[in-house]
Amino acid sequence: MKAYFDESTFTASYVVHDPVTRKAAIIDSVCDFDQPSGRTSFTSADVMISYINDQGLTIDWILETHAHADHLSAAPYLQERLGGQIAIGAQIITVQCVFAKIFNEGQNFAIDGSQFDRLFVDGDAFSLGDIPAIALHVPGHTPADIAYIIGDAAFIGDTMFMPDYGSARADFPGGDARQLYRSMRRLMALPDETRVFLCHDYKAAARKEFAWETTIAAQRTGNIHVHTGVGEDDFVVMRTKRDATLGMPRLILPSIQVNIRAGRFPQAESNGIRYLKLPLNAL
Ligand SMILES: [Fe+2]
Repeated sequence: MKAYFDESTFTASYVVHDPVTRKAAIIDSVCDFDQPSGRTSFTSADVMISYINDQGLTIDWILETHAHADHLSAAPYLQERLGGQIAIGAQIITVQCVFAKIFNEGQNFAIDGSQFDRLFVDGDAFSLGDIPAIALHVPGHTPADIAYIIGDAAFIGDTMFMPDYGSARADFPGGDARQLYRSMRRLMALPDETRVFLCHDYKAAARKEFAWETTIAAQRTGNIHVHTGVGEDDFVVMRTKRDATLGMPRLILPSIQVNIRAGRFPQAESNGIRYLKLPLNAL
């Protein structure tokens, strides 16, 4: 397992593989995007590709834990070069439905998840070579969040963060703090020793280094928002109060526009240039 951390969006991405068959999955990849210039590049994805090639890995899966609101996915770029199926939770259709309206997507945009190769529903089993894997639907941050449990490792997306940082926000369209609480409790029911890999780290005030790996036991005993003993109502009050103080992520409008297309950019206009829309006062 190899982790990558993108300091410009605080995103952790992973390449996880079965050492026997060398079959691998990429989780939550990042496309480099310079918003002021509108330039996209794939330096981060290329670093992953070098590692994958050096290790002789075959990519079976390019997994998204959800439609990210803070970075553009590099899934199509990686798929073109490495193969594999791009997958996300089936509730992406709910997210597409909300944002297709906001971006006034025309008839060319299908609100059916068909931009992805595989839509996971709760409990779907798959495998990484000889390693069994399962998709758990863990909504709350967004309606479509999936946690991927691969062997003894859980890639939990935006649900819990490091124990000293707490939990993900639940105020995006379709988000729900109560659902998030139940999803986190469900994850905490995994075995104590489960290795937990996060999608983000924002470095808690008392910590000097970024971190993206913890365990279920550490979450259960020490997560500042949802450790054992914190009730659902208390969590919902805390989360709702905190969310009311948060601004929108810097890249939410570009990210969502691209990520509901499985990471593809909108079609080029007649001059050959692709455009992202900036809806005013819609969020
Ligand atoms: Fe997120």
